[in-house]
Amino acid sequence: MIVQNVVATITLVGIGLVAAGFIHIIIQAGKPADADATSKSAQTAHTLQKWLFVALFLVFIGGSWATLAQFPIAPQHSTLDVKQVVDVVGRQWSWQITPSVLQAGSPVEFRVTSADVNHGFAIYAPDGRIETQTQAMPGYTNKLVYTFEHPGTYTVQCLEYCGLGHAPMKATFQVVAAKGE
Ligand code: CUA
Repeated sequence: MIVQNVVATITLVGIGLVAAGFIHIIIQAGKPADADATSKSAQTAHTLQKWLFVALFLVFIGGSWATLAQFPIAPQHSTLDVKQVVDVVGRQWSWQITPSVLQAGSPVEFRVTSADVNHGFAIYAPDGRIETQTQAMPGYTNKLVYTFEHPGTYTVQCLEYCGLGHAPMKATFQVVAAKGE
C-alpha cells in the first residue's frame, strides 16, 4: 500500500514536470531567437544531458545490483543440494503432491510440472498469506526452493486460469516441526 503511494507520487511529479516543460515551450515559442542565448542554452542542455546520463547509469547499475544480488529463483538446469524433494504435478483440475508431509526449517525443492495445460502453483500459509509460487507447465519442470519457517497446514491454489475447474483446484500439505526440536 505504502509502495503504491510512493509510485503514485513519483508518477504525478513526473507528469507535472512534463506538463511544466510543455507550458514553458508554449510561452517561449513566440519570442524571436537570439544567437548568443541559443548557443548558450544548447551548451547548458548538453552539460545537463551528460550528467543526467551519468546519474541514470549509476541508478541503473545500483538498482540492478540491489534487485538481482539475491536472485530468488533457483538455478533450473543444475542439480540442487536440497534434502527434501517434492514432486508436483498439476492437471485439470487437481494437484498431485508427493510427499505431502514436509519439515520446517530446512529447504524444500519443489519440482513442478503439468500433465495438460499451464497452471499456477501457489503456496498459501495457514494464515492465508501467499508464501511463494511458480508456474506448472507441460513439458517443463520448474524448480522452486523454499524453506518453511512455521509448521501447519499449507494450501496450494492454482493462479492461472485453466478451465472450468480452475477456482476449486486446491490441495493441502503438512509442514511439521523439524526432528530434534
Ligand atoms: Cu489450474 Cu487454474
